[in-house]
Amino acid sequence: MIGIIGAMEVEVEKLREAMVIEASKTIAGMTFYSGTLSGVPVTLVRSGIGKVNAAMCAQILCDCFQVSMIWNTGIAGSLCADINIGDIVISKDALQHDMDAVYFGYAPGVIPQQEVSTFPADEALATKAMEVCKSVNPDISVFSGRVVSGDQFVADKDKKKWISETFGGMCTEMEGAAIAQAAYLNGIPFLILRAISDKADDSATMDYTTFEKKAIEHMVQLTLGLLKAIA
Ligand code: ADE
Repeated sequence: MIGIIGAMEVEVEKLREAMVIEASKTIAGMTFYSGTLSGVPVTLVRSGIGKVNAAMCAQILCDCFQVSMIWNTGIAGSLCADINIGDIVISKDALQHDMDAVYFGYAPGVIPQQEVSTFPADEALATKAMEVCKSVNPDISVFSGRVVSGDQFVADKDKKKWISETFGGMCTEMEGAAIAQAAYLNGIPFLILRAISDKADDSATMDYTTFEKKAIEHMVQLTLGLLKAIA
């Protein structure tokens, strides 16, 4: 069983419509839909926005749905000039840009008293996702790299610059690294698939509403294609 998490309704509705739903269950205000998608057993859920919701959701998938891996699909803000709106970023690894124990001598993003703060995504699945993305979304570019997450919609050019210079991420969003951390602590693989909806700078709020739909279409194509490829 693959657990698929999207934070917002717009990020999961198209996937849910494509699913053969066999059961649904609501836990902690989140409705988990179990069934098949592209012929593969999945549990699909909208976590709600932000790291707490995302981590709780991932833990429930582990505890109550016995998922063997977790995918996080959705949209993100680009941190790189050559990653454009509509393009896709597939995680190599993920970390939290708002984890800050700098006062105690830790580098930004490092979780104190924990061995790992940058969580590596499943390499084989990420490679497959790159291949699939090129075939199902031939008109856009797909990138493999770091996803950085925080409880913050980044829409400021100085903040964006700090995040990209400090962490070297390709895109920023609000859930991926929390899901990655929960998956890591439960010993299961994860992958983050994000389509770019905005440039995470002063243009972000305008871009976001205009391009959200297009970005989600690419992400849905990739998710369905990747499921078919591993079925
Ligand atoms: N999701 C989509 N765009 C984002 C941004 N600029 N910051 C955080 N999360 C996002």
